[in-house]
Amino acid sequence: MSQGRFKNPVEATLTGIKDLFRKQDLASALTESDRLDGKTCLVTGANTGLGFGIAVELARRGAHLIMACRSGIPEKGEEVKRLSGSDKVEMRYIDLSNFETVHAFCAQLAADGVRLDVMVSNAGVAPPHAIKTVDGFDEIFQVNFLAKVLLYRELLHSGVIPNSIFSKGDNIRTNIPRIVFISSDSHQGASEIDWEEFGRYEEYGIRKAMSHYSYYKLVMNTYATELSRRLSDAQGKPKVSVNVMCPGPVDSDIVRKAPTLLKGFMKIIFKIFFRSPAKAALPVAYLCASDAVEGKTNYYLHMFNEKRMDAKCYDAEAGKKLWERAHALLMEGSGQV
Ligand SMILES: NC(=O)c1ccc[n+]([C@@H]2O[C@H](COP(=O)([O-])OP(=O)(O)OC[C@H]3O[C@@H](n4cnc5c(N)ncnc54)[C@H](OP(=O)(O)O)[C@@H]3O)[C@@H](O)[C@H]2O)c1
Repeated sequence: MSQGRFKNPVEATLTGIKDLFRKQDLASALTESDRLDGKTCLVTGANTGLGFGIAVELARRGAHLIMACRSGIPEKGEEVKRLSGSDKVEMRYIDLSNFETVHAFCAQLAADGVRLDVMVSNAGVAPPHAIKTVDGFDEIFQVNFLAKVLLYRELLHSGVIPNSIFSKGDNIRTNIPRIVFISSDSHQGASEIDWEEFGRYEEYGIRKAMSHYSYYKLVMNTYATELSRRLSDAQGKPKVSVNVMCPGPVDSDIVRKAPTLLKGFMKIIFKIFFRSPAKAALPVAYLCASDAVEGKTNYYLHMFNEKRMDAKCYDAEAGKKLWERAHALLMEGSGQV
């Protein structure tokens, strides 16, 4: 049976608060000269929380920004323009819990000739119980993991993320494209991937939901590691760099679906102790814009500290199996690729 690190939100919150007091080794590594002028960057879930903070920071640094969202269109884009002082901001609709919209989103990017320099997979959910999507999967499995596999499958094959491995096309670039996965350090200590229950929908309550959050971050990190392997040449040199980061505790809307009392309590804790999305976005901006990150892949940051992910995320056999099982599920379901 799969098992995450935390079984209740209080334990997770206390660990997050403790992390805030750790020294941030790379905090001064991001400077105002780390710019994204001329680069096209896409951020999923950019309408609120951490994603909104990332959107403002990347637009402020000169990026042409695509906000991939299911809500807040167009007002959140206008807000990012105002806060960043940039008008190179657009919003596009995507609902990761509905594969049809993922296909349409990817097809439109390709039809519009978009070429991404940076893609940040930020969108995520922390539901308090099982929720079945229109595609028949559990929401946390689909949004926090499987829809990402579909997105990268389509964007890499169509060359929207330029690469010479999955697509033939322009690969003559000064800088290689960068993919950043927003994860959580709570993945450390989650169980190995349970292949029996992989992709199967079943009902559960809040304890399992908490456990699933960190477990699916471990699953996502294992996928990110496998993607970085597949996007590197025989010498391990990346054609597209794939890095992972945990923003630490962020004052966001992540507990929006929690039971009312718990939500009220968590919101107060978030306001007092957690970091603002603007501050939490800075290590993400570092991964997207800094020259120091060029050529790095399968690199993990916990806020501004370099770290190793849980050892299970680097297991090449598990990575290969995860890749195959996830693509098989997409072939079987309406996520047909
Ligand atoms: N908050 C923390 O302390 C913390 C700590 C570590 C890691 N993280 C990670 O940070 C990322 C952002 O979370 P957050 O804390 O900023 O939470 P949040 O405020 O709830 O934001 C989540 C974002 O994901 C989007 N999203 C959810 N379901 C979606 C779907 N089906 N299709 C498209 N977009 C969808 C949301 O869009 P809607 O507004 O339309 O729902 C929203 O933009 C997540 O990956 C989370 O796991 C957060």
